[in-house]
Amino acid sequence: MLVTGAGSGIGRETALLCARRGADLVICDLNAEGLAATEADARGLGRNVVTRSVDVSDREQMRAFASEVAAPDLLVNNAGVGIGGGLLDTPLEDWDWVVRINLMGVVHGCHFFVPKMIERGGGGHVVNLSSLAGLVASPELVAYSATKFGVLGLSLALREELVPHEIGVTAICPGIVNTPITRSSRLYGKSGEPGARERIVRNYERRGYGPERGAKNILRAVERNRPIAPITPESWVSWAVMRTSPRLAGWMARKLAAAAQR
Ligand SMILES: NC(=O)c1ccc[n+]([C@@H]2O[C@H](COP(=O)([O-])OP(=O)(O)OC[C@H]3O[C@@H](n4cnc5c(N)ncnc54)[C@H](O)[C@@H]3O)[C@@H](O)[C@H]2O)c1
Repeated sequence: MLVTGAGSGIGRETALLCARRGADLVICDLNAEGLAATEADARGLGRNVVTRSVDVSDREQMRAFASEVAAPDLLVNNAGVGIGGGLLDTPLEDWDWVVRINLMGVVHGCHFFVPKMIERGGGGHVVNLSSLAGLVASPELVAYSATKFGVLGLSLALREELVPHEIGVTAICPGIVNTPITRSSRLYGKSGEPGARERIVRNYERRGYGPERGAKNILRAVERNRPIAPITPESWVSWAVMRTSPRLAGWMARKLAAAAQR
C-alpha cells in the first residue's frame, strides 16, 4: 500500500495499521524525520518499506515517484496542510499554496498511480483525504474548505469512472483529529489573532480523538467500500444536517467557528 504524508498524524497511523495487518509500505513525505520514524516502526513490525522524499504538489516529483514503485493495491492520498481564515483574510499566495498541496496533490496521486493500478489489474482501492470541511463549509476555513470540497468531488466522480476496473474510491472526511496539523496550519483573520493557535491546539487536545482511531475507521471504510466516510461523530452529525438542511448546516458552521475562538 502507498501513503502520502506518512510522516505524521493520520497518514503515519494508517500506514502503521496496514503494516500491523501485514502490508508492505511505500510511503512519502517532505518531513524526513517523521518519515524515518514511520519507516523504522514499520520495519520493526517486519515489513518491507520504500520511502521517498516527495512533494505531492510537484508534478515531476510525483511522476518520478510513480515510475519508481510498483502499483499499490491501496493508494492513500493523505498529504495535506491546514489554513484558517475567511476569504477577506486569505492572501492569494496562500490560495496557490493550499490548492497545490490539498487538491493538486490528490490529483497527482490519482493521475500517476491509478493507471498503474488499472494496468496491473485485480482491482484495488483509492482513499482521498477530504474533511468535515469538505462536507460543510466553514467561514473560518474558506480556502481549506474549497480544496476539500474539490477532493470530495474528484473522489465521487473517480469512483464511478473506476467501477469497470473494480477499483473502489473513498473520500475520508475527518472532523477534529488531534494531530500536529494544528501547529503547522497557516492562520489568518480571527484564527490568526494572538492566542488563537493555542486555543485551537487546546481544543483539539481536549477533543481527544487520536489519529490511531482515525486510521481504524479509514480501513473500515475501505473494507465497506464507502463512497464517503465521515470520521469522528461531529463529522457524521454535520453531514446528516447538511443533507437535511444546508441552511441549518451553514448556521451551525458559523456558530462552531465562533465557539472555536473561545
Ligand atoms: N487532523 C484533522 O483534524 C483533520 C481533519 C480533516 C482532514 N484532515 C486531513 O487529513 C490529512 C492528514 O492530516 P493530519 O491531521 O494527519 O496532518 P499532519 O500535519 O499530522 O500530517 C500531514 C503530513 O503531510 C505532509 N505534507 C504536507 N505537505 C506535503 C507535501 N506538499 N508533500 C508531501 N507531504 C506533505 C506533512 O509533512 C505531514 O507529515 C490532511 O489532508 C488533512 O487536511 C485532517
